[in-house]
Amino acid sequence: MLIGEAARVLASPAGREDPYPAYAALRAHGPVVRLGPGFYAATGYDAISALLRDPRLRVRGWPDGPASRLVADSLMKSNGTGHTRVRRLMAAAFAPRQVEALREAVTAQAVRLADYLAHLGGSGEAVDFMDEFAYPMPIRVICALLGVPAAEQQWFRERAQEMTEVLEPRQPGSHTIAADRAATELEAYFTDLVRSRRNAPGDDLISALIATHDADGDLSTRELIANLVTLLLAGFETTANLLGNGMGVLLDHPGPASRLGADPGLADAYVEELLRLESPLQLTSRWAAEEVDIDGADRIEANSHIMVFLGAGNRDPDRFPDPDRFDPFRESVQPLSFGAGAHYCLGAALARLEARIAFPVLLARLPAMERAGEAVRRDRTTFRGYANLPVYTEKLDRPTLLGLPGTR
Ligand code: HEM
Repeated sequence: MLIGEAARVLASPAGREDPYPAYAALRAHGPVVRLGPGFYAATGYDAISALLRDPRLRVRGWPDGPASRLVADSLMKSNGTGHTRVRRLMAAAFAPRQVEALREAVTAQAVRLADYLAHLGGSGEAVDFMDEFAYPMPIRVICALLGVPAAEQQWFRERAQEMTEVLEPRQPGSHTIAADRAATELEAYFTDLVRSRRNAPGDDLISALIATHDADGDLSTRELIANLVTLLLAGFETTANLLGNGMGVLLDHPGPASRLGADPGLADAYVEELLRLESPLQLTSRWAAEEVDIDGADRIEANSHIMVFLGAGNRDPDRFPDPDRFDPFRESVQPLSFGAGAHYCLGAALARLEARIAFPVLLARLPAMERAGEAVRRDRTTFRGYANLPVYTEKLDRPTLLGLPGTR
C-alpha cells in the first residue's frame, strides 16, 4: 500500500475501526514517513521513543476555541520551564506512594462494581460492560481524587467524553461544538469549586493545589482550572478504554483469562501486554521548529507537524515478535501507551493500579463472563475504545433464534 493510501485508510471509518493494517503499511515505508509538506507520521517503536524524548520536538496547542484553549493552557501543551514548573506541582499527587494509598479504595470500588454487574446479568440478560464497569470505575476514582461529589459523576462523564473530541485530528478551522460547550461548563464548574474549596479546604487534590497557588503564586488561577479540566480529559476515557479494550481481549482469550482470575500476581504483566496490544490512546503529536534527524528515519524538515502513532509503535515487529498476538508472558514489554520523555503520562501509576486490580477481581467474581453479540467501537482516531461491549455474566442455556435450546 502506498503512503498516501495508508493515510487515507487511517482517516476513514474502516481505518478507525481497525487501524493496524494501515499502520503496518506505513511502517513498511520507514519508521517516520513524510505524508506531505511539513507533515509526517511516526509508526516505528524506536523512532517514537526517540522523538518523544527529543527536546527539539515540542508540544503545540491550537487554541482556536474554548476547549482547545483550556488544553493549550495546561501542562499537556506547554514546553520547557513552564511545563516543568506546573508538572512538579501536580506530580506530588500522582507519585507512586500517593497512588498506592488509593489501593484499598480502588479495590472496594472494583468489587462493588463487579458485584453490581453480576446482579444486573443474573437474570441472563446482556449487560453493557462499558456502562456498568469501564466508565464508572475511573470516573469514581478521579472524582474522589478531586473531591467532587459522587452525585455529579454522570454529569462529569458526559462532559469529559465530549471534551475528548478536542484531541482528535481535525481540519484547520473545523469546529468542536460539543467539546467547546463541555469545556465552558467544566470551566465554570471548577471555577466555583476552587472558590468554595478556598473557603473550606478538604483532603483532596484541588485543595492541595489551591494551597500551593496561594502560598507562592506559582500557579495562576487560569492554569489551575485548565489543569483540573485536563486531568479529567486525560485520565477518564483513557482508563475506561484500558478496562474495556482489555476486557475485550480477555474475553477472546478464555485460557489466559482464567489463569489471571486464579492468580492476581500475574496482573502486572497482563496489563502491560493489554496496554501494548490495544493502546487506549493511539495518537499524539509533536511540532519540529527546526530540522530533526532520527536514526533510520526520513529527515524531518523544519516547521513540521508529526503524528506520533503510539498504537503503531506498540505493534512494531522489530520490537515485538508476532506483534498482533496477545502474549501476556512477553519479556520486557514497555509499551508506548503512556508516551515517553517530559510529557510521560502523569496518571500512569494510577491507571495501572486500577487495571491491575479490576481485571483479577472481574475474572475471579465473574468467571463465566462472555461476549453477548457485537461490540461497537467509538468512531475515534486518538482514543481507541468501545462505545459498548455487551456481555453475559453467567453461562445460561439460552434459546437460539430457532427456538432450540443452545449455548449460542
Ligand atoms: C490507561 C490510561 C491512560 C493512558 C493510556 C494515558 C496516556 C497518556 C499519554 C500517551 C500521555 C502523553 C501525551 C504526549 O506525550 O503527548 C499522557 C499524558 C498525560 N496524562 Fe495520561 N493516560 C492515562 C491515564 C491518565 C490518568 C488516570 C491521568 C490522571 C488522572 C492522566 C493524566 C495525564 C496528564 C496530566 C498528562 C500530561 C502530562 C504532561 O504533559 O506532562 N492520564 N497520558
